[in-house]
Amino acid sequence: MRAAALISLITASLVLAGPAPHMVKRATCPQGQTVEDAKCCVWFDVLSDIQTNIFNNGKCENGVHKSLRLAFHDAIGFSPSLEAGGSFGGGGADGSLIEHSDVELLFAANGGLGPTVEAQRTAALTHNVPFGDIVQFAAAVGLPAGLVPGPGDTVDRILERMADAGFSADETVDLLASHSIAAQQGLNTGIAGSPLDSTPDVFDSQFYIETLLKGVLNPGPTTGFAEVLSPIPGEFRMQSDFAIARDPRTACRWQALGADHALMSSAFRAAMVKLATLGNNRSTLVDCSSVIPTPASAPAPPTIPGGKTLDDIEGSCAATPFPSLPIAPGPTPTVPAVAV
Ligand code: HEM
Repeated sequence: MRAAALISLITASLVLAGPAPHMVKRATCPQGQTVEDAKCCVWFDVLSDIQTNIFNNGKCENGVHKSLRLAFHDAIGFSPSLEAGGSFGGGGADGSLIEHSDVELLFAANGGLGPTVEAQRTAALTHNVPFGDIVQFAAAVGLPAGLVPGPGDTVDRILERMADAGFSADETVDLLASHSIAAQQGLNTGIAGSPLDSTPDVFDSQFYIETLLKGVLNPGPTTGFAEVLSPIPGEFRMQSDFAIARDPRTACRWQALGADHALMSSAFRAAMVKLATLGNNRSTLVDCSSVIPTPASAPAPPTIPGGKTLDDIEGSCAATPFPSLPIAPGPTPTVPAVAV
């Protein structure tokens, strides 16, 4: 089950490593695989290392989630508008979270990422690969202070911050597919490990469907930071996801991705490629995507969770009615916490 999340995600991304040649030169690695460029061969060793030591052979959902979150935080620390104003705008996807972990791990937004940063540092040094590359590579297999959007921010602020880094409203929604395999740990510590959808180990479109359900309960005894009412026991809903799902600028894209796993995957892949290369000149990078394993199968089609009906969906796309989806059998489930 854990591997499902890992595998779906890893194909969703492009891996870029090292300075590029001016032409494609396919090569055969010592281990026998054919790759686009001999520089990609080392990534098979890195793959094996991080699968064993960070993802615990596909059993460590936490390592996968943290690595993806780390890739976002490393990359989104990139602000052309700050640079234009003469301030340091961050370097984008450059591994600074590992290189300058003594500073960047102190930023509130990076809470909980320390162990993953250290594990990735060890792997990068072992295989002599750049920090910036391992951060994005690990995210494909499985940000300065104030530049990472927060869960309590308004949609205006999040879209402005994302636009400053070069992302449209649609692309922001596309990237949030990542919250399909996510849990919170720092927003409400009393229920650490509460997932953001009912299938946190599968990269599927359930997250987009469930965030549109009416909020009716608190999953824990207290309400956490930026926490809003959840539709399902055990499931955590953050204010920013709730608001982006319903905002007129983002609601139609949100609904479209919820109804269509294939669209969600391809849109996420494209937006992740952009994220992974923020602040870098893509013509100087090598595409090592062939190192990333292929997923075994597509996830189950999206459903309205058991015990809920279409009436519970707060469809917010004015242009298109909410699609007709099957309702899962049985009562509303209680979503178990994941290990954090
Ligand atoms: C756009 C605004 C975003 C906001 C406000 C946001 C906020 C958050 C917050 C507050 C958490 C919970 C952290 C904790 O308590 O441990 C979280 C988890 C997570 N986020 Fe985001 N996020 C955003 C976008 C993204 C993007 C673009 C990605 C990746 C491409 C991403 C990947 C993740 C993952 C994988 C987790 C789960 C980490 C885990 O399970 O340990 N997020 N996010």
